[in-house]
Amino acid sequence: MSLSELPDLPSPLVTIHILGRLVQVPEGLTLMKAMEYAGFRLVHGVGCRGGFCGSCGILYRMADDYKLRPALACQTTVAEGMYLARMPFVPTNRAHHDLTQVNLATTTTLLASRYPELARCVACNTCTKACPQELQVMDYVQFALRDDWAEVTRESFDCIQCGLCALRCPADIAQFQVAQLARRAHALHNVAPSPQLAARVASIKAGEHRPELERLLDMDVDGLRALHAAREIEEAS
Ligand code: SF4
Ligand code: SF4
Ligand code: FES
Repeated sequence: MSLSELPDLPSPLVTIHILGRLVQVPEGLTLMKAMEYAGFRLVHGVGCRGGFCGSCGILYRMADDYKLRPALACQTTVAEGMYLARMPFVPTNRAHHDLTQVNLATTTTLLASRYPELARCVACNTCTKACPQELQVMDYVQFALRDDWAEVTRESFDCIQCGLCALRCPADIAQFQVAQLARRAHALHNVAPSPQLAARVASIKAGEHRPELERLLDMDVDGLRALHAAREIEEAS
């Protein structure tokens, strides 16, 4: 279909390509909503729609620009001349480990032994530029090479596991998997156990929340909607 064949729609509109299809969509839509507006039914690569779950990674180029840009489809708005493509599955290396079997007090190579590809980092900073959370990904990779779990935890705490860093890494490093292992080791070895968490786990195991769960399971959709609408919401600061 050419531009002249597109139907008249209320303006302002922007013209973009979605998976090779030329479409016009209202400006201000997110990429995810633009795809739905254009008739695409999203059955995967969509989750929270709020920038938290990391499932909606997408790639795009602008007209006349060679640069391939990663983004979250639920957080990025359409712009004239975008070419959108769905992100391929990223088969990242995820090390299997049982941290209870590791002497965390003495190991100094936990991350590098599970993820030896860390040594291939060429410090290109592509991962940092790809991160929609604006994390200093290359920096936490350097901390990971030093097995500094606390610093990896600090730098990666807002990671949403979207995989866009790994998708762009020329060294095939799965940065977010490395960071997750570091956070788990740090939590297990360096952070005091939370008494509140222990108490909550015990109350769940004792079945104390079962009646409430059963009450929810018995409710119809209208009842659930009313409950949702009546929930306590923290005031925006
Ligand atoms: S560090 Fe990687 S996986 Fe985590 S949010 Fe940034 S790009 Fe996504
Ligand atoms: S993209 Fe890969 S090679 Fe480049 S800095 Fe990040 S981890 Fe290192
Ligand atoms: S749908 Fe969850 S981050 Fe976009």
